Amino acid sequence: MTIREPTMKEKIQQMRTLRGKAKLGGGKDRIKKQHNQGKLTARERIDLLLDPDTFVEVDPFIVHRCTDFGMAEKRILGDGVVTGYGTINGRLVYVFSQDFTVFGGSLGEMFATKVCKLMDLAMKTGAPVIGLNDSGGARIQEGVASLAGYGDIFFKNVMASGVIPQISAIMGPCAGGAVYSPAMTDFIIMVKDTSHMFITGPEVIKTVLGQEVDFEELGGALVHMQTSGVCHFMAENEQECVAYIKKLLSYLPSNNMEDPPIKETGDDPNRTEDSLEEVVPHDPDKPYDVKDIFALVVDNGDFFEVQPLWAPNIVVGFARLNGRTVGVVANQPKYFAGTLDVNSSTKAARFIRFCDAFNIPIITFEDVPGFLPGIDQEHGGIIRHGSKLLFAYCEATVPKITIIIRKAYGGAYDVMGSKHSGADVNYAWPSAEIAVMGPAGAISIIFRKEITKAEDPEKRKKELTAEYREKFANPYIAAEKGYIDDVIEPSQTRPKLISALEMLVTKREPRPPKKHPNIPL
Ligand code: HXC
Repeated sequence: MTIREPTMKEKIQQMRTLRGKAKLGGGKDRIKKQHNQGKLTARERIDLLLDPDTFVEVDPFIVHRCTDFGMAEKRILGDGVVTGYGTINGRLVYVFSQDFTVFGGSLGEMFATKVCKLMDLAMKTGAPVIGLNDSGGARIQEGVASLAGYGDIFFKNVMASGVIPQISAIMGPCAGGAVYSPAMTDFIIMVKDTSHMFITGPEVIKTVLGQEVDFEELGGALVHMQTSGVCHFMAENEQECVAYIKKLLSYLPSNNMEDPPIKETGDDPNRTEDSLEEVVPHDPDKPYDVKDIFALVVDNGDFFEVQPLWAPNIVVGFARLNGRTVGVVANQPKYFAGTLDVNSSTKAARFIRFCDAFNIPIITFEDVPGFLPGIDQEHGGIIRHGSKLLFAYCEATVPKITIIIRKAYGGAYDVMGSKHSGADVNYAWPSAEIAVMGPAGAISIIFRKEITKAEDPEKRKKELTAEYREKFANPYIAAEKGYIDDVIEPSQTRPKLISALEMLVTKREPRPPKKHPNIPL
């Protein structure tokens, strides 16, 4: 009997059949289960993310090489992760989407090979990598090969850090050491109810510590958004998660050699805002919402806040000024009077370092009475964490513009983008108070004896406080010394910031050569 060589048409048909199989991942029943859990499939997520018909898949035919535990009979094309590239709003991005329908999205040797190949391409071409995570973690059947796979991805994450933006969406489980890949990327977005992140799960915690906790309380989106600070954005559902990714990317350059894209916003760069004069209360101890200030200053009031629920005493996020992306850092008097503490210092330091890595100028709105006092803070390492923020400001060479709205007291004055930390332009509103400490504290230290000896100590204290306030609680002593470049009218804030930003567009600031600085971690 003669064996007939298949025709080209038959070969193409075979390829199409295989591709069709690969597209089904773990099969129709598992896809149904995925949908029943309120989750989209790996491919549906990619379709939602990328511009229509732009996805080019890489490695759809890869399969694992494991033969243990009956795995030789379970070979699924694509091996649990869909990888490839396409565009978002016309810009190239790379995406890997973990497929929970294939071995629970668990990661083995070949799965990792696919992700690493993609990351290599992304680094060579200078485009962002987006990871859509939905996985049971290391593929248990593959043993150390899967740990090696994770290790290889971790290494690539670190190589890519600061070169291309890396964004992680958590759309299902993300447990054990698997969390460290997203954690080393630039931003994490979690989906409410369906995503969880933890190092050791509820069962292990119960066994080892006897503590009872469920998945949601342990590592749900809200916990990581509010308590741990692991998550940067929390989405109501997968559609909103994808919308966050797209919005975030719209502010970012594709790589560290590019400037962020300029977007025509239609907002007049010379727009002045008289109502800014009304935002800061007359009483210096009264809080206000610093976001009311940005709303009137940045293009169309559009502020994209990062980590809004964690460490709310500092606000960080992206905005545009005359179409240019800026990173905004602001003390928030609404929470803890805007003091700096452990979490707010860490939050702002990381944000500043991201902006610096990706050529995004930093605009600081300052109203800070100092560091938060307390045993918890001291024992929690405020010295170590507070110095991160100072370090990050000093280290950043992108354009830095600071505007003192009200208080700039003590070490916090130096930390928050002062001239001494290398800021390029420093403005103050006439309401600025710049001194070593606030009037009440200062008086009780330098005039303690005089107050106790006075005939009417309360009266004397009031007089001295008023004297101190008049002398120090203003921007002019700092302006006399050139630490403040100018005192500006609140209504002029937007045109002044835009003009400073345009002036700084060509800023270059070389630093001494070194392997890397040693930020106090
Ligand atoms: C192999 C896995 C798997 C894994 C899930 N599956 N996790 N296969 N390795 N890690 C398989 C299941 O056997 C099942 O296959 C299918 O995926 C779906 O899983 P279910 O359990 O039915 O789904 P669900 O009830 O939704 O529960 C999801 C889950 C649970 C919470 C993720 O599967 C789970 O707890 N998995 C183990 C998580 C874990 O401990 N991973 C290791 C973490 S340590 P069948 O064929 O039955 O449908 C780690 C170290 C990384 O990752 C270290 C890096 C340095």
